[in-house]
Amino acid sequence: MTRVSLPATALSAVDFGAPAAERDIDRGLEDYFVESEAYNRVRLGSRRIVIGARGIGKSAIFQVLARREREAGSYVIELSPEDYSYELLNQTMASEDHGSWAKLGAYAVAWKYLIYVLIMKEVSKKKTHLKKGAANGIYRYIRDNHSNPQASKLSALVSYLKRLEGIKIGKYEASIKARELEKLYKLEEIHHLVPSLKEIASSRKIVVLVDELDRGWDSSEDARAFVAGLFQACISVNSVHDNLRVYMSLRQELYDDVPELYDDAQKYRDLIETLRWNELSLLKLIARRARHSMPALAAVDDETCWDSIFASLPGPGACGSFRYMIDRTLYRPREIIQFCTQAIECCRESNSVIPVKHAAVREAEGVYSAERAKDIAAEHRFQYPGLISVLEAFRGRAQSLDREELEFLCLELITGEIPSRGTSLWLNECTQHALIEILWNVGFLRAEAVQDNTEKKLGSGPYLGVYRVLHNNITATRCFQVHPMFHAYLDIGSAGPKKVSRSKTG
Ligand SMILES: Nc1ncnc2c1ncn2[C@@H]1O[C@H](COP(=O)(O)OP(=O)(O)OP(=O)(O)O)[C@@H](O)[C@H]1O
Ligand SMILES: [Mg+2]
Repeated sequence: MTRVSLPATALSAVDFGAPAAERDIDRGLEDYFVESEAYNRVRLGSRRIVIGARGIGKSAIFQVLARREREAGSYVIELSPEDYSYELLNQTMASEDHGSWAKLGAYAVAWKYLIYVLIMKEVSKKKTHLKKGAANGIYRYIRDNHSNPQASKLSALVSYLKRLEGIKIGKYEASIKARELEKLYKLEEIHHLVPSLKEIASSRKIVVLVDELDRGWDSSEDARAFVAGLFQACISVNSVHDNLRVYMSLRQELYDDVPELYDDAQKYRDLIETLRWNELSLLKLIARRARHSMPALAAVDDETCWDSIFASLPGPGACGSFRYMIDRTLYRPREIIQFCTQAIECCRESNSVIPVKHAAVREAEGVYSAERAKDIAAEHRFQYPGLISVLEAFRGRAQSLDREELEFLCLELITGEIPSRGTSLWLNECTQHALIEILWNVGFLRAEAVQDNTEKKLGSGPYLGVYRVLHNNITATRCFQVHPMFHAYLDIGSAGPKKVSRSKTG
């Protein structure tokens, strides 16, 4: 193992950056950004819908793309959380059962309208760039219809929806209703301006980025139609011109929570980028951040960078501290950044020096593990409310469980013999198999990898999490392990597989 010996002051200098890309962008993200294949596919426009779990790097891609496109002179429009409020939509729009007004289609066309209006506003701002003819119509349209500087970014969408709603559930004669609706669905108001937009796009790229759709997500009828409608609008506007690019990001659970979206997504799989990381790329990510804050590490490789900051684990045959820490993540950048930052903080608090010792890492693990358990439960609060109390049922148990033990524990949870809170909407309906599947999908359980050598002892093989396998069929898995990320929080033992006691108290 090679290591750069750093001065005593290094501990105060080391900085792994902010855990969310929106804040990280001003702390050096552009400089230490890892340009993955996924990023390149998005940058080149072959993928325009970015899907991934929390903290996996969706916003990082959008933030860096926006900066670089602006620098290259493209028109860039960014939509972010302050711009949408599901609560407001719920309060403003009539519900579906108030009249058959097919919300999804209405939201899709309203999104298209909004995207075109936002692009035209942006283009009109830089009037000097506009060629006469093509752009003049656009400029006049914006001046005459959307000149209110106080209007929120989303106001064009809401007003368009209101127009549709008014006609759909209003009392009009059928033929008038049909005619008016057709005009709205065909975007008649701006249809004649689309060729001009194409002309502008042919000489200057237009990039629209819609991120953080999950902020304030309430799984309501409007929220679902809002997201699924955006998906449709995104597909439609993207077909206008290759230089007119609409990107959207979606959190994995939100994608799973909107069936309308899932049906559409099957048809457009080739446009979707699902983000994933592995050990090597995560080590690279951390090393680049370390070098950014400590120029003394500028010329060394990723492993040396790590070993200069974190001491190896004590004991014979111990694995490296990177392996220890990465094993306690679901392979998401935010997790390793948070764990490393917490370890540095613990090291500072104990007035220790770099390299960070294992004691500081273990202390950090306590805080990190508790935060992650709560975050994971919060991430899935719409699909599986009360998940945290299901996880609590594993408190104090062994790390590994064979299928029979696990099924028994799940059954106790389902029947209420082990009580849980706030789970009545979903847990009672589960079978043991379904509950195991849920715990696997949220990352709480890891499955023992299938072994070639069937003679090997049960529970002796490596365990893999859902984030590390492409085909997640666990029906044949014989042995499971609670993911090490949760061990510290749930006081889960360090011994190998051992029988769980079949007590009723859990
Ligand atoms: N390619 C990358 N290179 C460097 N840092 C990255 C990269 N991807 C993500 N990160 C960093 O990881 C952290 C989490 O990323 P980000 O905020 O983009 O996650 P997200 O997927 O948008 O999460 P959320 O769903 O919570 O919005 C941030 O600090 C971000 O800067
Ligand atoms: Mg984000």
